[in-house]
Amino acid sequence: MEPTILSSLLLFLLRPSQDTEVVIIHDYTSGVNKIVESFSERWAATTLLTATPAPDLSQLLVALTSFHTNDLRYMVLLCSANTTRTIFDMVSHHNLESRRVRWLVVWEKPTLAVTNLMYYMREGSMIGLAARDSSGSYKIYSSFVSHGSQLRFEEIGVWNDRRRVSLRQPLFPDVLNLYRNFEGRQLVLSSLNNWPFFVIKNLENATAVAVRGIDVSVINTLSYYLNFTYRVEVPSDGQWGGVQEDGTVTGMVGEVAARRAHLAINEITITASRETVVDFSYPYFFDSTSVVSKAPAERNRSLAVFYPFSSLTWITVILVTLLMGPLGYLFSRVHHQLTQTFDSTHNERSRNVGPSFDSGRIKWGSEPGLRGVEMFCFNMFRTIIIQGNLLPASSWPLRLVFFSWYAFCLILYAVYAGTLTAYLTKPSFEKPIDSLEDLLEARERGVVATVTKGTSNEMMLKVVEHNTAFISGMVGTEIYAIINGRHLYHLSRNTFNPQPYGIVCPSGAPYTPILNLMLGRMVHAGLVSKWHMDEVNKIKQNTGQKEGTYVGQGRIGVRPLALDHLQVQYLS
Ligand SMILES: *[C@@H]1O[C@H](CO)[C@@H](O)[C@H](O)[C@H]1NC(C)=O
Ligand SMILES: *[C@@H]1O[C@H](CO)[C@@H](O)[C@H](O)[C@H]1NC(C)=O
Ligand SMILES: *[C@@H]1O[C@H](CO)[C@@H](O)[C@H](O)[C@H]1NC(C)=O
Repeated sequence: MEPTILSSLLLFLLRPSQDTEVVIIHDYTSGVNKIVESFSERWAATTLLTATPAPDLSQLLVALTSFHTNDLRYMVLLCSANTTRTIFDMVSHHNLESRRVRWLVVWEKPTLAVTNLMYYMREGSMIGLAARDSSGSYKIYSSFVSHGSQLRFEEIGVWNDRRRVSLRQPLFPDVLNLYRNFEGRQLVLSSLNNWPFFVIKNLENATAVAVRGIDVSVINTLSYYLNFTYRVEVPSDGQWGGVQEDGTVTGMVGEVAARRAHLAINEITITASRETVVDFSYPYFFDSTSVVSKAPAERNRSLAVFYPFSSLTWITVILVTLLMGPLGYLFSRVHHQLTQTFDSTHNERSRNVGPSFDSGRIKWGSEPGLRGVEMFCFNMFRTIIIQGNLLPASSWPLRLVFFSWYAFCLILYAVYAGTLTAYLTKPSFEKPIDSLEDLLEARERGVVATVTKGTSNEMMLKVVEHNTAFISGMVGTEIYAIINGRHLYHLSRNTFNPQPYGIVCPSGAPYTPILNLMLGRMVHAGLVSKWHMDEVNKIKQNTGQKEGTYVGQGRIGVRPLALDHLQVQYLS
């Protein structure tokens, strides 16, 4: 083989530049240094791995997973067909397919037909192949995924050192554009019957078809715009699944991880442990955990006059009213005493001045200052019910006492009257459970907090029968609440622990970017929320319930203007 020819072939196919990373794995090429040299001239970072006597898995792992940036990496295989096969077996076995890795396989002496190569390579590997024929030209093949989801090769040009041709299509097409049209491919979708997200109907011939649901709307929209059809497969264990302690992967996640399914969508929470075996799309839906409790009962209106104030406030008001009488009495008494002593000493000195000098003060002293304590009590009470004060107050200390009392009574009266009106016009309810703090408080009233692993509806019925508080996802609880009678339940206003739902794809799947793009558009347009509302409204119509006012729910006819009004859903 000719190192010069080989290096010009690689330069032609890869067009290395400053930010290209190239890893060359070789097992028989002696002139490989020449190639490294020619790459280095163009500043491509080049790593050389040898595959004799056998390819080293740990080196391969490093080469395929150590990415610092979002760059692409080219893996060039200058190996015998057998070694090539071993390397691709390692890739499949360890799930190392990645859309950021592009493989270029160069065969000098094809011992394996091109058609054989495709049986052990899977979708997710972007592969270009240059195979030398007897005349010394290289046939260039590019990989594509067939209708039956098999990796296939098609010839896109012939290259030789003397007659350089341009390729009919790029060796490595851009995945985002490539997967914009699946060309009517049938994908396998792993899902379970899980209303309201994914409703499956089983036909007589044991075929499962998706009927309706939030996730069904999502996948149908994707299938329409990306031009694919899908077949629903239910995992045999009927689980959402994930990585188990013994390392096996179960459920829908397991089906996708083992590449028996292309996608899984069904209220699947994005978690770190699942991310280790599969890829997730961007989240398209967020569900939060909420506390559902029995709807608070209406409070008895006959006692409405007491509602405006708490019992502690009432006790304080009564005590203060009782104390004000004696206090006023005490003030006038002390003042009277003081003026008496002052007058008696003063009078002796001023007797000559004239009898009229302090006649007023004497008159005052004999008037209210000497009223009994019961008169004070009675008048203080008159003030608090806004009936006016009959006692004249001509001394400043007493005026001050009366003034503060008037001010206090006025404010108290205004607050009480206003609140009472509000209580009488709007029905008032017992304190609902709106947050986790409320739940703690409610435990003292005997409310038991419950969670469940299995079916929610049983727990929802218990909420009403046994007065428990059920902690669960919001979408599910709301829908079960509607079925059982929405007025019986109260959903907490505060929610917590939001869970993002995403579509599960095999790790390194080349179609994840296009799914992300489409999901982003759907979410921004408000379509996913609309489908959610559609499901809720369908149940409401079926159960014959009308939109109403629910305590703490806020879903009433009149809503404050919010950002989501700008979204499509409210135009309909
Ligand atoms: C390639 O592998 C096959 C079996 O997998 C073996 O029979 C054959 O001898 C190998 N060829 C070379 C050249 O190593
Ligand atoms: C979808 O795929 C089919 C099958 O290849 C093709 O005939 C059709 O033109 C495609 N539709 C669009 C809109 O590209
Ligand atoms: C099952 O029946 C449906 C409609 O009756 C048909 O479209 C589908 O191809 C059938 N599936 C199998 C496996 O026969």
